[in-house]
Amino acid sequence: MSAKGMTPMFDLNGHRAAVTGAASGIGNAMARALLAHGAEVLMVDRDTASLDKAMQDLAPSHQARTRAGHADITDADRLRKLLAEFGSLDAIFANAGISGGPGFGTPAGRESGTIERQSMDNWRMVMDVNLIGTANTLQAALPMLRRGGGGRIVITASVAGVQAEPFVSYAYAMTKTAVVRLVQQAALELASQGITVNAIAPGFIRTGIADGRLHDPQTSASLRRLIPLGRLGEPTDLGGLAVFLASRCSDYITGAVIPVDGGYLLNPKGNLTC
Ligand SMILES: NC(=O)c1ccc[n+]([C@@H]2O[C@H](COP(=O)([O-])OP(=O)(O)OC[C@H]3O[C@@H](n4cnc5c(N)ncnc54)[C@H](O)[C@@H]3O)[C@@H](O)[C@H]2O)c1
Repeated sequence: MSAKGMTPMFDLNGHRAAVTGAASGIGNAMARALLAHGAEVLMVDRDTASLDKAMQDLAPSHQARTRAGHADITDADRLRKLLAEFGSLDAIFANAGISGGPGFGTPAGRESGTIERQSMDNWRMVMDVNLIGTANTLQAALPMLRRGGGGRIVITASVAGVQAEPFVSYAYAMTKTAVVRLVQQAALELASQGITVNAIAPGFIRTGIADGRLHDPQTSASLRRLIPLGRLGEPTDLGGLAVFLASRCSDYITGAVIPVDGGYLLNPKGNLTC
């Protein structure tokens, strides 16, 4: 309670959330933001060493409210067991994902990213993680959300799920588009059960994805020109929205796809001056 006896709008004390892909980048920033607002968090990742390191890097007061869950989201049985062990949930952040290689609009993908060069094995691998893995996460989380009396599903999509995108792989763009429709379908189905489903659509966020390509100064300089706010995003730019979507402030929002992109989607031609 605040000094005036009102519960702060973004207070997550007593709130229980799970975040996949929490060892690095966006998922890690989301988990930290939820912890900073009082939540208990299950941090899930397949990269055991990075997850252990991420746990050690948390403040001791946050460590006490955090559990590490080693799991690959493509392993539905393991995920189900892990979430059942953690118990009832108020929110699930289905965030883990992979890039599938550079898009045809990048120097690295000029050839390998074209439609003719697409490897179906690579498509299957990306679909398995970004689409099937996300669906597995929802299926594993739903009984735990119901146990808590409803709750929040938040899926990390991408601006590449909203518009055609030359900077990402075909497989990535296709899976993120499918994930947006998954959010809309599930929002429609689950609304009557008190479960909201929303998507976050990040733009270019400087994380470990795509071998850390967005940390490259040249890539960063050319992308910056396409972003009205004039910079690439940092993982912490996603923290506030994660807290908002977990909190009671977003009670009446479902089926939304919310960009966190510095205005990138507003500006399809990338020209800020004529
Ligand atoms: N960084 C961006 O510019 C950007 C833009 C749009 C969307 N996204 C999305 O954000 C999400 C997080 O990506 P990020 O940028 O933080 O990347 P990242 O590589 O820094 O983090 C992704 C994390 O997910 C984990 N992971 C990957 N596959 C997994 C699996 N099968 N099972 C369990 N864990 C797995 C990785 O080990 C890693 O810790 C992804 O869904 C990505 O598509 C990122």
